[in-house]
Amino acid sequence: MTAAVPTESYARRALLGLEGNLNKIFGNDLNPLYHLGALGFYFFWVIAVSGAYLYAFYRTGIELSYPSVEYLTKEQWYFGGIMRSLHRYAADALVVVMMLHMLREFILGRYRGARWFAWITGVLLIWMIYASGLNGYWMVWDKLAQYSTVATMEWLDWLPIFSEPMSQSFISREVLNDRFFSLISFSHATIPLFVLFMLWIHIMRISNPVVNPRRGLALGMLLALLILALIKPVLSQGPADMGIEPRNISIDWFYLFIHPLLDVWSAGQVWALVIGLSLLLGVLPWLPTRHKQIPVAEVNLKDCSGCRLCVADCPYEAVVMRPRSDGMHFLEEAVVVPDRCVSCGICAGACPSSNPFRNEDNYVSGIEMPSLPMSGLRTAMMNDMAKLKGEARVMVFGCDNAANIEKLRSEGVAVMSLPCIAMLPPSFIEYALSEHQVDGVFITGCRENDCYHRLGVLWTERRLTKEREPRLRSRADRERIRQFWAASADLKELESELESFRTGLPGLSGSEVVSHHLAGK
Ligand code: HEM
Ligand code: SF4
Ligand code: SF4
Repeated sequence: MTAAVPTESYARRALLGLEGNLNKIFGNDLNPLYHLGALGFYFFWVIAVSGAYLYAFYRTGIELSYPSVEYLTKEQWYFGGIMRSLHRYAADALVVVMMLHMLREFILGRYRGARWFAWITGVLLIWMIYASGLNGYWMVWDKLAQYSTVATMEWLDWLPIFSEPMSQSFISREVLNDRFFSLISFSHATIPLFVLFMLWIHIMRISNPVVNPRRGLALGMLLALLILALIKPVLSQGPADMGIEPRNISIDWFYLFIHPLLDVWSAGQVWALVIGLSLLLGVLPWLPTRHKQIPVAEVNLKDCSGCRLCVADCPYEAVVMRPRSDGMHFLEEAVVVPDRCVSCGICAGACPSSNPFRNEDNYVSGIEMPSLPMSGLRTAMMNDMAKLKGEARVMVFGCDNAANIEKLRSEGVAVMSLPCIAMLPPSFIEYALSEHQVDGVFITGCRENDCYHRLGVLWTERRLTKEREPRLRSRADRERIRQFWAASADLKELESELESFRTGLPGLSGSEVVSHHLAGK
């Protein structure tokens, strides 16, 4: 009904195909692409713990730094060396998952509208993580550190902000002093604190953010890092010597790709590229799009009892409670923060007053999507159900961001697509099944762990299993309800699941009851 992601880009199709294959290998729960943000947090913590250990042995100073890292790497290879490798490889892994996470959010279109906040703080995180990574390489003070330091300083010199060229301070051994090491050592410990703070801001407008990957995934990743650390331990590349220009060094392309670029382009051109890319990323959420967002949720105070279910279910912290303002005997009332609302409709699905058994023709719910009022959905559903024919009449509820359920429509199948499947109050299922209006209800939406609106699939599952309010009541015959999660790439599987559901349904002829019910409306 909405058009959040109406047409499918090639990139989206390719991503869904890849994720589908990974699901077959790892299962939905351990598919790394579904947990990139959580993996980012995880690698951050691996870096922090291993870094704390390295710090305990690190000596700050032009003559001290290199030997102290060598001691860790060689004398204490069995622990210090492994910690060093873990630190480095986890930092590389952080860049990989961060970039994939960004790309994935972009391909899925989850960066526009209210999501600009997570997107922009994400762009800032990229800068901070790169600053911290570069800084880390200098700590070792080997030839790679020398190369990276000088190249970075020369690059920074292009900016007209320093009174004296920074690179001059590092060109000869005489002026390279211990204060430089104190500075980089201090900043390598403090920038990550700012990263952590920024990560906290990054997920501030997300409710129930997943910041820990599943245990199997976390253990698997740690094992992979450890194996890498043992097979290819990280080594220094000989002590720095400011008198000799470093040659034949191998660089870490994840962090230091900027240096070779400076060999072919001028500092100004590289700045133009980096700043240009950052600005482009920064304006992406506001670039014009064909995809129109439907109006945000609205509270109708008359029908709000202040139960807080909408607050609990909103994935974007877009509903808050405040003291009652209309004199009714309830303590609180819900308020939508429009700037945070992504128009998913999940709150409307959570509100107890979104109940289709209500008598009024044009009833209003406590919280509604103005362009998709609940009473309108009830009427549309009833009209569709009344037209169904045959012995296995099924009402399918789906989601605009998953498989296109319009393709399932037939003589015996009516469909209703919502902005998110969790916009469906369980009472709609009970209603569809009541008085044999249909023989079965089929529910579908995005793949598990990959809900476009983050929590819609999870909330729907919990509502159906009675673990979460609003619960599906026992009067709804579970044998007549089937759920199957399917992305647009899974249409075939969805069709065959629906078919098997229909053939398994005990036949019921209820067309007379439906006409009777409609006549009464
Ligand atoms: C180390 C870096 C990063 C970490 C650890 C991280 C972590 C996370 C986490 C845990 C979430 C919440 C996931 C959920 O529970 O649904 C999230 C959401 C998000 N992140 Fe990141 N992120 C990082 C960098 C980035 C970057 C670079 C971007 C893009 C420029 C970005 C864009 C987003 C967006 C748009 C969302 C919201 C998705 C939605 O609304 O459903 N993140 N991130
Ligand atoms: S539609 Fe409702 S649940 Fe969805 S973001 Fe807006 S307020 Fe939250
Ligand atoms: S779920 Fe409905 S009744 Fe409960 S607080 Fe939200 S708007 Fe009010």
